[in-house]
Amino acid sequence: MGKYIIEGGRGLYGSLTIKGAKNSVLTLLAASILTPEKVVLHGCPDIGDVAVMLRILRKLGCKVERTDDIVEIDSSGLHSYKIACDPAKELRSSVFMLGSLLSRLKRAKAVYPGGCDIGLRPIDIHLAGLRELGVTVGERHGHIDCDGTNAEPADIMLDLPSVGATENLMMACVFLNGVSILRNCAKEPEIVDLQNFLNAMGAKVRGAGGSVITVEGVKRLHGVEYTPIPDRIVAGTWAIGAVMCGGKLTLENVIPEHLSSLLAKLPKSSCKIYPRDGKITIESKGRPRAVPKTETMYYPGFPTDLQAQMTALQSVSDGTAVIVENIFETRFRSAVELCKMGANITVSGNTAVVRGVPELYGSRVVATDLRGGASLVLAAAAASGRSEIDEIHHIDRGYEDLAAILPQVGVDIKRE
Ligand code: EPZ
Repeated sequence: MGKYIIEGGRGLYGSLTIKGAKNSVLTLLAASILTPEKVVLHGCPDIGDVAVMLRILRKLGCKVERTDDIVEIDSSGLHSYKIACDPAKELRSSVFMLGSLLSRLKRAKAVYPGGCDIGLRPIDIHLAGLRELGVTVGERHGHIDCDGTNAEPADIMLDLPSVGATENLMMACVFLNGVSILRNCAKEPEIVDLQNFLNAMGAKVRGAGGSVITVEGVKRLHGVEYTPIPDRIVAGTWAIGAVMCGGKLTLENVIPEHLSSLLAKLPKSSCKIYPRDGKITIESKGRPRAVPKTETMYYPGFPTDLQAQMTALQSVSDGTAVIVENIFETRFRSAVELCKMGANITVSGNTAVVRGVPELYGSRVVATDLRGGASLVLAAAAASGRSEIDEIHHIDRGYEDLAAILPQVGVDIKRE
Protein backbone atom coordinates (compact mmCIF):
# COMPACT_ATOMS: atom_id res chain seq x y z
CA MET A 1 0.00 0.00 0.00
CA GLY A 2 3.02 2.31 -0.17
CA LYS A 3 4.94 4.35 2.35
CA TYR A 4 6.43 7.82 2.77
CA ILE A 5 10.15 8.21 3.60
CA ILE A 6 10.82 11.59 5.23
CA GLU A 7 14.16 13.13 6.30
CA GLY A 8 12.99 15.62 8.91
CA GLY A 9 14.38 18.71 10.59
CA ARG A 10 13.92 21.30 7.84
CA GLY A 11 11.67 24.37 7.93
CA LEU A 12 8.76 24.95 5.50
CA TYR A 13 9.53 27.83 3.13
CA GLY A 14 7.56 29.01 0.11
CA SER A 15 3.90 28.67 -0.82
CA LEU A 16 1.27 25.99 -1.38
CA THR A 17 -1.99 26.40 -3.29
CA ILE A 18 -5.01 24.80 -1.65
CA LYS A 19 -7.49 22.84 -3.83
CA GLY A 20 -11.25 22.36 -3.35
CA ALA A 21 -12.45 20.99 -0.03
CA LYS A 22 -12.78 17.17 0.03
CA ASN A 23 -15.80 17.46 2.34
CA SER A 24 -17.50 19.83 -0.05
CA VAL A 25 -16.58 18.15 -3.34
CA LEU A 26 -17.91 14.78 -2.12
CA THR A 27 -21.26 16.32 -1.21
CA LEU A 28 -21.51 18.34 -4.44
CA LEU A 29 -20.80 15.16 -6.41
CA ALA A 30 -23.72 13.51 -4.59
CA ALA A 31 -25.89 16.57 -5.35
CA SER A 32 -24.85 16.60 -9.02
CA ILE A 33 -27.40 13.86 -9.83
CA LEU A 34 -30.25 16.19 -8.83
CA THR A 35 -30.27 17.39 -12.44
CA PRO A 36 -29.96 15.39 -15.68
CA GLU A 37 -28.11 18.37 -17.14
CA LYS A 38 -24.32 18.65 -17.11
CA VAL A 39 -22.56 19.68 -13.90
CA VAL A 40 -18.95 20.95 -13.95
CA LEU A 41 -16.88 21.22 -10.77
CA HIS A 42 -13.57 23.13 -10.75
CA GLY A 43 -10.65 22.74 -8.32
CA CYS A 44 -11.40 19.10 -7.51
CA PRO A 45 -8.46 17.54 -5.65
CA ASP A 46 -6.96 14.32 -7.05
CA ILE A 47 -7.57 12.25 -3.89
CA GLY A 48 -8.83 8.76 -3.08
CA ASP A 49 -12.22 9.69 -1.69
CA VAL A 50 -13.11 11.71 -4.80
CA ALA A 51 -12.04 8.79 -7.04
CA VAL A 52 -14.32 6.42 -5.07
CA MET A 53 -17.23 8.85 -5.37
CA LEU A 54 -16.71 9.09 -9.13
CA ARG A 55 -16.75 5.28 -9.26
CA ILE A 56 -20.06 5.22 -7.37
CA LEU A 57 -21.56 7.74 -9.82
CA ARG A 58 -20.38 5.73 -12.84
CA LYS A 59 -21.91 2.53 -11.43
CA LEU A 60 -25.24 4.39 -11.13
CA GLY A 61 -25.08 5.16 -14.86
CA CYS A 62 -23.53 8.63 -14.85
CA LYS A 63 -20.93 9.73 -17.39
CA VAL A 64 -17.99 11.23 -15.49
CA GLU A 65 -15.02 12.95 -17.13
CA ARG A 66 -12.00 14.30 -15.27
CA THR A 67 -9.50 16.70 -16.89
CA ASP A 68 -6.87 17.90 -14.37
CA ASP A 69 -8.92 19.38 -11.51
CA ILE A 70 -12.13 19.78 -13.54
CA VAL A 71 -14.80 17.09 -13.15
CA GLU A 72 -17.85 16.91 -15.46
CA ILE A 73 -20.87 14.82 -14.50
CA ASP A 74 -23.68 13.90 -16.90
CA SER A 75 -26.33 11.95 -15.01
CA SER A 76 -28.88 11.89 -17.87
CA GLY A 77 -28.18 8.16 -18.09
CA LEU A 78 -28.78 7.51 -14.38
CA HIS A 79 -30.35 4.02 -14.38
CA SER A 80 -30.01 2.70 -10.84
CA TYR A 81 -30.85 3.74 -7.32
CA LYS A 82 -28.63 1.04 -5.78
CA ILE A 83 -25.33 2.43 -4.54
CA ALA A 84 -22.64 -0.14 -5.33
CA CYS A 85 -21.51 -2.01 -2.22
CA ASP A 86 -17.72 -2.17 -2.45
CA PRO A 87 -16.95 1.53 -3.09
CA ALA A 88 -19.68 2.55 -0.64
CA LYS A 89 -18.06 0.48 2.08
CA GLU A 90 -14.93 2.57 1.63
CA LEU A 91 -16.64 5.89 1.83
CA ARG A 92 -18.72 7.61 4.50
CA SER A 93 -20.15 10.12 2.03
CA SER A 94 -21.74 7.31 -0.02
CA VAL A 95 -24.65 7.65 2.44
CA PHE A 96 -25.09 11.27 1.25
CA MET A 97 -26.35 9.74 -1.99
CA LEU A 98 -29.55 8.60 -0.24
CA GLY A 99 -31.02 12.11 -0.26
CA SER A 100 -30.12 12.95 -3.84
CA LEU A 101 -31.21 9.53 -5.20
CA LEU A 102 -34.56 9.82 -3.38
CA SER A 103 -35.09 13.27 -4.88
CA ARG A 104 -34.21 12.11 -8.40
CA LEU A 105 -35.65 8.56 -8.48
CA LYS A 106 -37.84 8.33 -5.35
CA ARG A 107 -35.83 5.20 -4.37
CA ALA A 108 -32.39 4.66 -2.85
CA LYS A 109 -30.53 1.60 -1.64
CA ALA A 110 -27.15 1.56 0.08
CA VAL A 111 -25.00 -0.44 2.47
CA TYR A 112 -23.94 0.98 5.80
CA PRO A 113 -21.10 3.37 4.83
CA GLY A 114 -17.41 2.93 5.54
CA GLY A 115 -14.82 5.63 6.04
CA CYS A 116 -12.15 6.34 8.63
CA ASP A 117 -12.07 4.14 11.72
CA ILE A 118 -12.49 7.01 14.18
CA GLY A 119 -15.64 5.96 15.95
CA LEU A 120 -19.02 4.28 15.66
CA ARG A 121 -20.26 6.77 13.07
CA PRO A 122 -23.93 5.76 13.11
CA ILE A 123 -26.38 7.16 10.56
CA ASP A 124 -29.46 7.14 12.82
CA ILE A 125 -29.96 10.91 12.43
CA HIS A 126 -29.88 10.62 8.63
CA LEU A 127 -32.50 7.85 8.69
CA ALA A 128 -34.68 9.48 11.35
CA GLY A 129 -34.83 12.64 9.23
CA LEU A 130 -35.76 10.70 6.09
CA ARG A 131 -38.53 8.93 8.02
CA GLU A 132 -39.84 12.33 9.19
CA LEU A 133 -40.17 13.21 5.50
CA GLY A 134 -42.36 10.12 5.00
CA VAL A 135 -39.63 8.03 3.39
CA THR A 136 -40.00 4.34 4.27
CA VAL A 137 -36.59 3.09 5.37
CA GLY A 138 -35.91 -0.65 5.60
CA GLU A 139 -32.75 -1.79 7.37
CA ARG A 140 -31.80 -5.43 6.88
CA HIS A 141 -28.52 -7.35 6.76
CA GLY A 142 -26.50 -4.12 6.64
CA HIS A 143 -28.54 -2.74 3.74
CA ILE A 144 -30.65 0.40 3.80
CA ASP A 145 -33.61 0.40 1.38
CA CYS A 146 -35.51 3.69 1.03
CA ASP A 147 -38.81 4.43 -0.77
CA GLY A 148 -39.64 8.11 -1.11
CA THR A 149 -42.83 7.73 -3.19
CA ASN A 150 -44.90 9.39 -0.49
CA ALA A 151 -42.33 11.84 0.83
CA GLU A 152 -43.72 15.17 2.03
CA PRO A 153 -42.15 18.37 3.45
CA ALA A 154 -41.64 18.29 7.22
CA ASP A 155 -40.28 20.27 10.16
CA ILE A 156 -37.31 18.22 11.40
CA MET A 157 -35.20 18.61 14.53
CA LEU A 158 -31.80 16.91 14.24
CA ASP A 159 -30.67 15.21 17.47
CA LEU A 160 -27.25 16.76 16.96
CA PRO A 161 -25.75 19.03 14.28
CA SER A 162 -24.52 16.22 12.02
CA VAL A 163 -22.77 17.52 8.89
CA GLY A 164 -23.75 14.55 6.74
CA ALA A 165 -27.32 14.35 8.01
CA THR A 166 -27.82 18.09 7.37
CA GLU A 167 -26.53 17.71 3.81
CA ASN A 168 -28.45 14.50 3.13
CA LEU A 169 -31.74 16.03 4.25
CA MET A 170 -31.14 19.28 2.30
CA MET A 171 -30.82 17.16 -0.86
CA ALA A 172 -33.83 14.99 0.04
CA CYS A 173 -36.10 18.08 0.28
CA VAL A 174 -35.31 19.99 -2.93
CA PHE A 175 -38.26 18.61 -4.97
CA LEU A 176 -40.83 18.10 -2.20
CA ASN A 177 -44.15 19.88 -2.66
CA GLY A 178 -43.78 22.68 -0.08
CA VAL A 179 -41.35 24.08 2.51
CA SER A 180 -39.25 21.78 4.73
CA ILE A 181 -37.53 23.10 7.86
CA LEU A 182 -34.34 21.54 9.24
CA ARG A 183 -33.43 22.54 12.81
CA ASN A 184 -30.24 22.07 14.87
CA CYS A 185 -28.28 21.90 11.60
CA ALA A 186 -24.51 21.75 11.27
CA LYS A 187 -23.00 25.17 10.44
CA GLU A 188 -19.84 24.06 8.65
CA PRO A 189 -18.73 26.09 5.59
CA GLU A 190 -19.33 22.98 3.48
CA ILE A 191 -23.06 23.25 4.32
CA VAL A 192 -23.09 26.84 3.03
CA ASP A 193 -21.24 25.65 -0.08
CA LEU A 194 -23.92 23.01 -0.69
CA GLN A 195 -26.67 25.63 -0.31
CA ASN A 196 -24.90 27.92 -2.80
CA PHE A 197 -24.44 25.02 -5.22
CA LEU A 198 -28.09 23.93 -5.00
CA ASN A 199 -29.34 27.50 -5.42
CA ALA A 200 -27.05 27.95 -8.43
CA MET A 201 -28.93 24.96 -9.90
CA GLY A 202 -32.28 26.67 -9.21
CA ALA A 203 -33.12 25.37 -5.73
CA LYS A 204 -34.57 27.56 -2.96
CA VAL A 205 -32.50 26.83 0.15
CA ARG A 206 -32.02 29.39 2.93
CA GLY A 207 -30.28 29.59 6.26
CA ALA A 208 -27.14 27.44 5.78
CA GLY A 209 -24.42 28.49 8.21
CA GLY A 210 -27.08 28.91 10.88
CA SER A 211 -28.95 26.24 12.82
CA VAL A 212 -32.22 26.48 10.85
CA ILE A 213 -32.30 25.71 7.13
CA THR A 214 -35.46 25.97 5.02
CA VAL A 215 -35.86 24.21 1.68
CA GLU A 216 -38.73 25.30 -0.60
CA GLY A 217 -39.37 22.53 -3.10
CA VAL A 218 -39.01 23.32 -6.83
CA LYS A 219 -39.96 21.29 -9.90
CA ARG A 220 -36.49 20.68 -11.29
CA LEU A 221 -32.87 21.81 -11.16
CA HIS A 222 -30.64 22.80 -14.08
CA GLY A 223 -26.97 22.19 -14.80
CA VAL A 224 -24.26 24.38 -13.29
CA GLU A 225 -20.53 25.16 -13.42
CA TYR A 226 -19.21 25.63 -9.87
CA THR A 227 -16.01 26.04 -7.84
CA PRO A 228 -16.18 24.49 -4.34
CA ILE A 229 -14.67 26.29 -1.35
CA PRO A 230 -10.98 25.60 -0.60
CA ASP A 231 -10.10 22.84 1.84
CA ARG A 232 -9.82 24.45 5.29
CA ILE A 233 -8.55 21.19 6.82
CA VAL A 234 -5.71 20.78 4.31
CA ALA A 235 -4.84 24.48 4.80
CA GLY A 236 -4.97 24.05 8.58
CA THR A 237 -2.73 20.99 8.35
CA TRP A 238 0.03 22.96 6.58
CA ALA A 239 -0.41 26.00 8.84
CA ILE A 240 0.22 23.74 11.83
CA GLY A 241 3.16 22.20 9.95
CA ALA A 242 4.77 25.64 9.52
CA VAL A 243 4.60 26.26 13.28
CA MET A 244 5.88 22.74 14.05
CA CYS A 245 8.76 22.66 11.56
CA GLY A 246 9.66 26.36 11.55
CA GLY A 247 9.95 28.48 8.42
CA LYS A 248 7.69 30.88 6.55
CA LEU A 249 4.81 29.41 4.58
CA THR A 250 2.18 31.12 2.45
CA LEU A 251 -1.07 29.28 1.70
CA GLU A 252 -2.81 30.47 -1.48
CA ASN A 253 -6.55 30.07 -2.12
CA VAL A 254 -7.78 29.94 1.47
CA ILE A 255 -10.68 31.62 3.29
CA PRO A 256 -9.08 32.79 6.58
CA GLU A 257 -12.48 33.01 8.29
CA HIS A 258 -12.90 29.24 7.85
CA LEU A 259 -9.76 28.75 9.94
CA SER A 260 -10.48 31.26 12.67
CA SER A 261 -10.70 28.69 15.50
CA LEU A 262 -7.28 27.28 14.53
CA LEU A 263 -5.62 30.66 14.01
CA ALA A 264 -6.85 31.72 17.44
CA LYS A 265 -5.07 28.68 18.91
CA LEU A 266 -1.69 29.12 17.21
CA PRO A 267 0.41 30.78 19.91
CA LYS A 268 1.22 34.41 19.14
CA SER A 269 4.44 33.91 21.05
CA SER A 270 5.86 31.57 18.47
CA CYS A 271 4.44 32.55 15.13
CA LYS A 272 3.24 35.56 13.18
CA ILE A 273 0.14 35.07 11.02
CA TYR A 274 -0.75 37.39 8.13
CA PRO A 275 -4.24 36.58 6.82
CA ARG A 276 -4.94 38.55 3.62
CA ASP A 277 -7.73 38.17 1.09
CA GLY A 278 -7.48 34.65 -0.27
CA LYS A 279 -4.21 33.77 1.44
CA ILE A 280 -2.49 33.30 4.79
CA THR A 281 1.23 33.55 5.62
CA ILE A 282 2.52 31.83 8.77
CA GLU A 283 6.01 32.77 9.97
CA SER A 284 7.55 30.72 12.76
CA LYS A 285 9.33 32.56 15.54
CA GLY A 286 11.00 29.63 17.28
CA ARG A 287 9.74 26.74 19.41
CA PRO A 288 5.96 27.05 19.93
CA ARG A 289 4.54 27.41 23.39
CA ALA A 290 2.01 24.78 24.47
CA VAL A 291 -1.69 25.64 24.17
CA PRO A 292 -3.11 24.79 27.62
CA LYS A 293 -6.39 23.33 26.33
CA THR A 294 -8.01 22.52 22.98
CA GLU A 295 -11.54 21.06 22.76
CA THR A 296 -12.96 19.90 19.43
CA MET A 297 -16.44 21.27 18.81
CA TYR A 298 -18.93 21.66 16.01
CA TYR A 299 -18.19 24.58 13.68
CA PRO A 300 -17.21 27.33 14.37
CA GLY A 301 -15.44 25.54 17.23
CA PHE A 302 -12.08 23.82 16.82
CA PRO A 303 -12.51 21.19 14.07
CA THR A 304 -12.15 17.52 14.97
CA ASP A 305 -10.42 17.07 11.60
CA LEU A 306 -7.48 19.17 12.89
CA GLN A 307 -7.27 17.50 16.30
CA ALA A 308 -4.61 14.95 15.35
CA GLN A 309 -2.47 17.65 13.72
CA MET A 310 -2.86 19.86 16.82
CA THR A 311 -1.84 16.94 19.04
CA ALA A 312 1.33 16.56 16.95
CA LEU A 313 2.08 20.29 17.31
CA GLN A 314 1.61 20.14 21.08
CA SER A 315 3.98 17.14 21.26
CA VAL A 316 6.92 19.46 20.38
CA SER A 317 5.60 22.60 22.11
CA ASP A 318 7.08 24.04 25.30
CA GLY A 319 4.76 23.05 28.17
CA THR A 320 1.81 20.76 28.79
CA ALA A 321 -1.35 20.68 26.68
CA VAL A 322 -4.74 19.04 27.19
CA ILE A 323 -6.70 18.01 24.11
CA VAL A 324 -10.33 16.91 24.36
CA GLU A 325 -12.01 15.12 21.43
CA ASN A 326 -15.76 15.72 21.78
CA ILE A 327 -16.96 14.61 18.34
CA PHE A 328 -15.64 11.09 17.67
CA GLU A 329 -15.02 8.25 20.09
CA THR A 330 -11.59 6.97 19.05
CA ARG A 331 -9.69 9.72 17.32
CA PHE A 332 -6.39 9.57 19.26
CA ARG A 333 -5.03 6.47 17.52
CA SER A 334 -2.10 8.34 15.99
CA ALA A 335 -0.93 9.36 19.48
CA VAL A 336 0.53 5.86 19.90
CA GLU A 337 2.58 6.38 16.74
CA LEU A 338 3.72 9.85 17.87
CA CYS A 339 5.01 8.26 21.10
CA LYS A 340 7.19 5.95 18.97
CA MET A 341 8.82 9.20 17.76
CA GLY A 342 9.52 10.35 21.30
CA ALA A 343 6.31 12.22 22.08
CA ASN A 344 4.98 12.12 25.65
CA ILE A 345 1.21 11.70 25.31
CA THR A 346 -1.18 10.07 27.77
CA VAL A 347 -4.66 9.27 26.45
CA SER A 348 -7.57 8.56 28.77
CA GLY A 349 -11.01 8.30 27.17
CA ASN A 350 -11.57 11.36 25.02
CA THR A 351 -8.74 13.35 26.60
CA ALA A 352 -5.04 13.46 25.74
CA VAL A 353 -2.43 15.07 28.00
CA VAL A 354 0.60 16.09 25.92
CA ARG A 355 3.87 16.99 27.64
CA GLY A 356 5.91 18.74 24.97
CA VAL A 357 9.44 17.51 24.21
CA PRO A 358 12.11 19.67 22.52
CA GLU A 359 12.43 17.31 19.58
CA LEU A 360 10.95 14.15 18.05
CA TYR A 361 13.19 11.58 16.37
CA GLY A 362 12.61 9.79 13.10
CA SER A 363 10.97 6.36 13.41
CA ARG A 364 8.95 3.78 11.49
CA VAL A 365 5.26 4.49 12.12
CA VAL A 366 1.87 3.44 10.69
CA ALA A 367 -0.96 5.68 9.50
CA THR A 368 -4.21 4.55 11.13
CA ASP A 369 -6.66 7.01 9.53
CA LEU A 370 -6.69 10.05 7.26
CA ARG A 371 -6.00 12.91 9.66
CA GLY A 372 -3.92 10.78 12.01
CA GLY A 373 -1.74 9.92 9.03
CA ALA A 374 -1.40 13.62 8.17
CA SER A 375 -0.28 14.32 11.74
CA LEU A 376 2.49 11.71 11.34
CA VAL A 377 3.71 13.46 8.18
CA LEU A 378 3.96 16.73 10.13
CA ALA A 379 5.76 14.99 13.00
CA ALA A 380 8.21 13.27 10.62
CA ALA A 381 8.93 16.57 8.82
CA ALA A 382 9.65 18.22 12.20
CA ALA A 383 11.62 15.28 13.67
CA SER A 384 15.38 14.87 13.46
CA GLY A 385 16.36 11.98 11.22
CA ARG A 386 14.55 9.58 8.92
CA SER A 387 10.98 8.37 9.31
CA GLU A 388 8.97 5.79 7.40
CA ILE A 389 5.17 6.05 7.38
CA ASP A 390 3.34 2.89 6.31
CA GLU A 391 -0.31 2.43 5.21
CA ILE A 392 -0.31 5.81 3.48
CA HIS A 393 -3.45 4.93 1.51
CA HIS A 394 -5.27 6.43 4.49
CA ILE A 395 -3.54 9.76 3.78
CA ASP A 396 -4.15 9.52 0.03
CA ARG A 397 -7.90 9.60 0.74
CA GLY A 398 -7.76 13.31 1.61
CA TYR A 399 -4.35 14.68 0.51
CA GLU A 400 -2.90 14.78 -3.00
CA ASP A 401 0.46 13.04 -3.41
CA LEU A 402 2.59 14.64 -0.70
CA ALA A 403 5.80 13.43 -2.37
CA ALA A 404 4.92 15.79 -5.22
CA ILE A 405 3.62 18.66 -3.10
CA LEU A 406 5.74 19.02 0.05
CA PRO A 407 9.15 19.20 -1.68
CA GLN A 408 7.86 22.53 -3.09
CA VAL A 409 8.25 23.96 0.42
CA GLY A 410 11.47 22.17 1.34
CA VAL A 411 10.36 18.85 2.82
CA ASP A 412 12.56 15.86 1.95
CA ILE A 413 9.84 13.29 1.29
CA LYS A 414 9.66 10.31 -1.09
CA ARG A 415 6.94 7.76 -1.81
CA GLU A 416 7.95 4.08 -2.07
C1 EPZ B 1 -18.26 14.91 8.24
O1 EPZ B 1 -18.48 13.57 8.66
C2 EPZ B 1 -16.88 14.91 7.61
N1 EPZ B 1 -16.87 14.00 6.47
C3 EPZ B 1 -15.84 14.46 8.64
O2 EPZ B 1 -14.56 14.57 8.02
C4 EPZ B 1 -15.89 15.40 9.84
O3 EPZ B 1 -15.00 14.95 10.82
C5 EPZ B 1 -17.32 15.43 10.41
O4 EPZ B 1 -18.25 15.80 9.37
C6 EPZ B 1 -17.45 16.41 11.57
O5 EPZ B 1 -17.11 17.69 11.12
C7 EPZ B 1 -17.43 14.39 5.30
O6 EPZ B 1 -17.97 15.48 5.18
C8 EPZ B 1 -17.34 13.42 4.16
P1 EPZ B 1 -21.12 14.11 11.56
P2 EPZ B 1 -19.94 13.12 9.18
O7 EPZ B 1 -22.34 13.44 11.06
O8 EPZ B 1 -20.99 13.83 8.42
C9 EPZ B 1 -22.52 11.56 15.23
C10 EPZ B 1 -12.39 13.88 7.42
O9 EPZ B 1 -11.38 13.58 8.06
N2 EPZ B 1 -23.62 11.11 14.36
O10 EPZ B 1 -21.09 15.60 11.65
O11 EPZ B 1 -19.97 11.64 9.20
C11 EPZ B 1 -21.19 11.00 14.80
O12 EPZ B 1 -20.98 9.72 15.34
C12 EPZ B 1 -13.75 13.37 7.86
O13 EPZ B 1 -12.39 14.60 6.38
C13 EPZ B 1 -24.63 10.32 14.90
O14 EPZ B 1 -24.63 9.99 16.09
O15 EPZ B 1 -19.88 13.66 10.66
C14 EPZ B 1 -20.22 12.01 15.36
O16 EPZ B 1 -20.01 11.72 16.72
C15 EPZ B 1 -13.68 12.52 9.11
N3 EPZ B 1 -25.65 9.91 14.10
C16 EPZ B 1 -20.99 13.33 15.26
O17 EPZ B 1 -22.36 12.98 15.08
C17 EPZ B 1 -25.70 10.26 12.76
O18 EPZ B 1 -26.67 9.87 12.08
C18 EPZ B 1 -20.57 14.21 14.09
O19 EPZ B 1 -20.71 13.44 12.94
C19 EPZ B 1 -24.66 11.05 12.24
C20 EPZ B 1 -23.64 11.47 13.05
